[in-house]
Amino acid sequence: MTDPHRLDGQVAIVTGAAQGIGQGIALVLAEAGAKIVIGDLQDASDTVRQIRDGGGEAISTVMDTSSPDDDRALVELAVAEFGKLDILVNNAAIDAPSGNAWDLPDAEWERTIGVNLSGVFYCSRAALVPMLEAGSGVIINMSSVSARHAAKGMSPAYNASKAGVLGLTAAFAEQVTEKGVRVNAVMPALIESRDFGWSPEERARQTAAYPMGPGQPRDVGEAIRYLVSPAARWVSGTTLPVTGGAQRGSSVL
Ligand SMILES: NC(=O)c1ccc[n+]([C@@H]2O[C@H](COP(=O)([O-])OP(=O)(O)OC[C@H]3O[C@@H](n4cnc5c(N)ncnc54)[C@H](O)[C@@H]3O)[C@@H](O)[C@H]2O)c1
Repeated sequence: MTDPHRLDGQVAIVTGAAQGIGQGIALVLAEAGAKIVIGDLQDASDTVRQIRDGGGEAISTVMDTSSPDDDRALVELAVAEFGKLDILVNNAAIDAPSGNAWDLPDAEWERTIGVNLSGVFYCSRAALVPMLEAGSGVIINMSSVSARHAAKGMSPAYNASKAGVLGLTAAFAEQVTEKGVRVNAVMPALIESRDFGWSPEERARQTAAYPMGPGQPRDVGEAIRYLVSPAARWVSGTTLPVTGGAQRGSSVL
């Protein structure tokens, strides 16, 4: 019997997979059998090398998800190289510099929304071309618990962009699930995707609410592996919190 959690032969784009959570997602999906296409502002050859060392297939290109042309080119690259596109993971985003609403510069607002929200729209729209033609596909959008919970000093642009991603997820799912394309979001809490530069005291404060400690990039990858797999064939238009049991406020779920 075929394992419904395997992704053998499937082609997956993961944006922002040069490092951090995107890298964890790309490695997990590759281990499940998917061929990986990475689009990132940075060179992602380290992730590609790790996948190939593990016996998988991967390519990468330097691009900017906030550019509709770059997103179309990324999708065309995947189809040209591997013949089709089954999975899109919209992971790339920027942490806007912490800022207060009253003095947030226009350029920071626009860049954060441009990458974190418009980029998800442009890339999903481009991916729908081959997916709707095939009558199948899966799109995963990276939101955050910050969609629903603000924090002092966190940029309102980041909160708004991640809330907007939930709206895009609902809208796309409403329009394309009946055409064979499932669309879902994940909503991680604190993932130690890189060195945040915290002192030991600050790290203890930041992680105090996490009964299992902060998450790792692969923890998000494993959640996404389920959502993109045939095992989740009846799951669309929803959001999966990945929070390690941390409960901020009462409305994460
Ligand atoms: N780290 C966390 O605690 C956390 C929690 C919830 C959600 N998230 C979300 O998870 C995702 C990954 O976060 P991370 O912590 O790994 O971030 P990160 O900054 O470590 O990595 C982001 C990657 O995206 C790339 N990128 C940025 N802008 C891009 C653009 N315009 N075009 C293409 N690539 C671009 C970067 O080069 C980098 O490789 C983001 O969507 C983030 O908002 C992170």
